[in-house]
Amino acid sequence: MTLVQEIDYGTPVRAATTSVTVEIDGKPVTVPAGSSVMRAAMESGVRVPRLCATDSLEPFGSCRLCLVEIEGRKGTPASCTTPVEAGMKVTTQSGKLARMRRGVMELYISDHPLDCLTCPANGNCELQDMAGAVGLRDVRYGYEGANHLDEEKDESNPYFTFDPAKCIVCSRCVRACDEVQGTFALTVKGRGFASKISPGDMLFLDSECVSCGACVQACPTATLTEKTVIEMGQPQDSVVTTCAYCGVGCAFKAEMQGNEVVRMVPFKDGKANHGHSCVKGRFAWGYTTHRDRILSPMIREKITDPWREVTWDEAINYAASEFKRIQAKYGNDSIGGITSSRCTNEETYLVQKLVRAGFGNNNVDTCARVCHSPTGYGLKTTFGTSAGTQDFDSIDMTDVVLVIGANPTDAHPVFASRMKRRLRGGAGLIVVDPRRIDLVKQPHIEANYHLALRPGTNVAIINALAHVVATEGLVDEAFVAERCDMATFNRWRAFVSEERNSPEAVESITGVPAQSIREAARLYAKAGNAAIYYGLGVTEHSQGSTMVMGMANLAMATGNLGRAGVGVNPLRGQNNVQGSCDMGSFPHEFPGYRHVSDDSVRSVFEEVWGVHLGAEPGLRIPNMLDAAVDGTFMGLYVQGEDIVQSDPNTHHVTAGLAAMECVVIQDLFLNETASYAHVFLPGSSFLEKDGTFTNAERRISRVRKAIPPMAGYADWEITLLLAKAMGFEMSYSHPSEVMAEIARLTPTFAGVTYEKIDKLGSIQWPCNDKAPEGTPVMHADGFVRGKGQFMITEFVATDERTTDRFPLLLTTGRILSQYNVGAQTRRTANVTWFDEDVLEIHPWDAENRGINDGDLVELASRAGATTLHAKVADRMQPGVVYTTFHFPGTAVNVVTTEFADWATECPEYKVTAVQVRKTSHASEWQESQEEFREETTRRRKREKV
Ligand code: SF4
Ligand code: SF4
Ligand code: SF4
Ligand code: FES
Repeated sequence: MTLVQEIDYGTPVRAATTSVTVEIDGKPVTVPAGSSVMRAAMESGVRVPRLCATDSLEPFGSCRLCLVEIEGRKGTPASCTTPVEAGMKVTTQSGKLARMRRGVMELYISDHPLDCLTCPANGNCELQDMAGAVGLRDVRYGYEGANHLDEEKDESNPYFTFDPAKCIVCSRCVRACDEVQGTFALTVKGRGFASKISPGDMLFLDSECVSCGACVQACPTATLTEKTVIEMGQPQDSVVTTCAYCGVGCAFKAEMQGNEVVRMVPFKDGKANHGHSCVKGRFAWGYTTHRDRILSPMIREKITDPWREVTWDEAINYAASEFKRIQAKYGNDSIGGITSSRCTNEETYLVQKLVRAGFGNNNVDTCARVCHSPTGYGLKTTFGTSAGTQDFDSIDMTDVVLVIGANPTDAHPVFASRMKRRLRGGAGLIVVDPRRIDLVKQPHIEANYHLALRPGTNVAIINALAHVVATEGLVDEAFVAERCDMATFNRWRAFVSEERNSPEAVESITGVPAQSIREAARLYAKAGNAAIYYGLGVTEHSQGSTMVMGMANLAMATGNLGRAGVGVNPLRGQNNVQGSCDMGSFPHEFPGYRHVSDDSVRSVFEEVWGVHLGAEPGLRIPNMLDAAVDGTFMGLYVQGEDIVQSDPNTHHVTAGLAAMECVVIQDLFLNETASYAHVFLPGSSFLEKDGTFTNAERRISRVRKAIPPMAGYADWEITLLLAKAMGFEMSYSHPSEVMAEIARLTPTFAGVTYEKIDKLGSIQWPCNDKAPEGTPVMHADGFVRGKGQFMITEFVATDERTTDRFPLLLTTGRILSQYNVGAQTRRTANVTWFDEDVLEIHPWDAENRGINDGDLVELASRAGATTLHAKVADRMQPGVVYTTFHFPGTAVNVVTTEFADWATECPEYKVTAVQVRKTSHASEWQESQEEFREETTRRRKREKV
């Protein structure tokens, strides 16, 4: 395949309803009205030379290379900026045009270093290609005059360089940053010959740049170039795969030299990202070959023993014999497994199958327990399906965006860019968040309303928004009558109409002015197309499930479901949260969200799996830990999760793990949980295996193997080995066979095959006879459950209250450059931007405590204490502090408590009563962990010697 950047011919016109016919070099061609002459030429098979045009950006018309002649018109207009007109006769090649193009190229080349042979872009440079295309053979102007050849390189960004000596000021980078990314970090400074690209008169690293790579992608020269390309040279081959970070699920080309990745390039045909990326997927893949990778299986009898490297056979047999010994001693239900939302659908499916069929119980749970389990519960109860309603493209049709408890610019950056483009295009914005997140005010974006509520009062706010809808005649009566269950609707209408749910009544609870709630509710309800996007700020509460149902109620009442531009959309945290839930990772559900107590469902699985299956739901993660402390749960298989760092109330998690007799960890690195493990099975990164991920839009995309598994086995193969050693053999030669079984057993996946995914690029489930190519928008012709069900959403204040001892509320979240527990991103140059968790605190709260920016502070709750540095930030509201949980040294979850969502036990990460005070030393917990880590490192070193 060619690695030369795809050639683009001006912005395609979407959604044009009429078409026009023009003549290109004597050949008629019909294109949508509004298309550029350049695009019409492309449609007729003619490649007009160009440099400043590319199809992901608006036409600009600066390079003057794409000149054409048009019959009856004077001059030589630029084809990229000239729209077609019916009957137009265009000449793209003539002696005059050729001379003019050569003249333009000559000027460019006369101010460009002639170092093509040693340039990193050699062989993949549009300037070079165009010089060839226009037949430039000679440059008459020397370098004696003024030029830009001595401009200084900016190498401050860890991932790409900016070499202005090679810049042709086509401004593609500036437009990519503005139009695609929406950061507006770059400008063209100066005019004419003096014009140059500038990240605001400072180094890239010090600028507003968020390192998304869109400018690098757009640059037609070597001015902006990935450092890996400079070091390694141009890639030779590529594999299309899916990003292993967040739930946006961007498609990438892994561009390779043999078994080494040269760069990850966002794939233009990727339906989730349309060729865009963020700093994580684009650049932060170095962890896959980090020296910390564990590549040999290891075992130890006690967690205080040193690790011993062993063969795969020995490790697998030891794990299996321990699990069997434990079951013989403590009973069948004394072991279980945890699946990972970072692993593929196929791997997750196999782990839950191993637990249900091989272990013989339903003790399987997933990390989605601690993030989006309330989404599953809430949306299934109201709509009938545990998934978001829209595709990402839907945002283009949205008139008002309601963002609740989500911070897309940090946590879902590529979708955030898409959302920002729609907001710049005129959509309204309501943000419900305790913090003034970046979306509230950005270049060219300002929220109409920011409802800065107190943490823990989401349900009061959603009820108040619903109160306005119900009492001000804003209900879409026709939609409700046709699509919803009227009995539940009438009960709900009466409930939300009660005075105690009015904006005025909840103002003192939420801290949000009643008038703002009223106006925001009106904006949402009268929008035409209003869409809700939400994140963990909704789910990780004691009323997480209630809030999800509250949002579903609001969307149904206003008719904002079942078409493009509307919906209720969870922004999933990890790459495969949706998939791990779909694949039956919860203890009460088989794949496809079918309850284990359903005899007819169970019998289907029993027939295919050839075993008897239990009808009782198994243990959830918190219950497993409780049972371990009680001495009844003694063995755990964890694939790709670090529950010590990610789960709440760390003391409780570690007490549970320490009480177990066999903990098997399958991971890339010796994570925090591995400190409590007896068997370590080296996992494989997304580059080392085949499979699929399902993103936040229910989009199933292929993960394709780019290199062989570094430790010998892909994760799915390791599960097969363990199953076989346990006496439950599962035979598959490739993950496509696992998907075939999933499709056979799961009605919503019935039509999914690898062949179809390869053909279509990706598929959004449900995919079956009714929707053979998948379902971009759910509930279009009626809710999956039949009639939409309204639920009563009584606000109940969390039991986690501030006190004199703990007077502040802590809420947690993520930052752009780091990802979850940081196991991957901490091992990349992303630490350049963020290398420790800090505590954001409002200036008043800081001043009251004598805390200055950068001071070490102790963050203490009734669960525990940790220390970190303070960042005084006025985007916090007084009384609320905020931090991230990316670094194990901070161990923020030492502080979070055991409170959880009433329906799903999703932890209440977002509300913890805390105190903050200045300190000079690390907490006892951190010191003990530090000692533990140092001791482990010493032991490993001794073993190696
Ligand atoms: S840096 Fe690249 S994209 Fe930007 S103006 Fe220069 S040549 Fe064009
Ligand atoms: S990397 Fe992204 S944010 Fe930074 S300047 Fe380029 S386009 Fe803008
Ligand atoms: S937005 Fe998410 S999926 Fe896309 S590149 Fe970034 S981390 Fe990967
Ligand atoms: S490509 Fe048309 S003016 Fe540059």
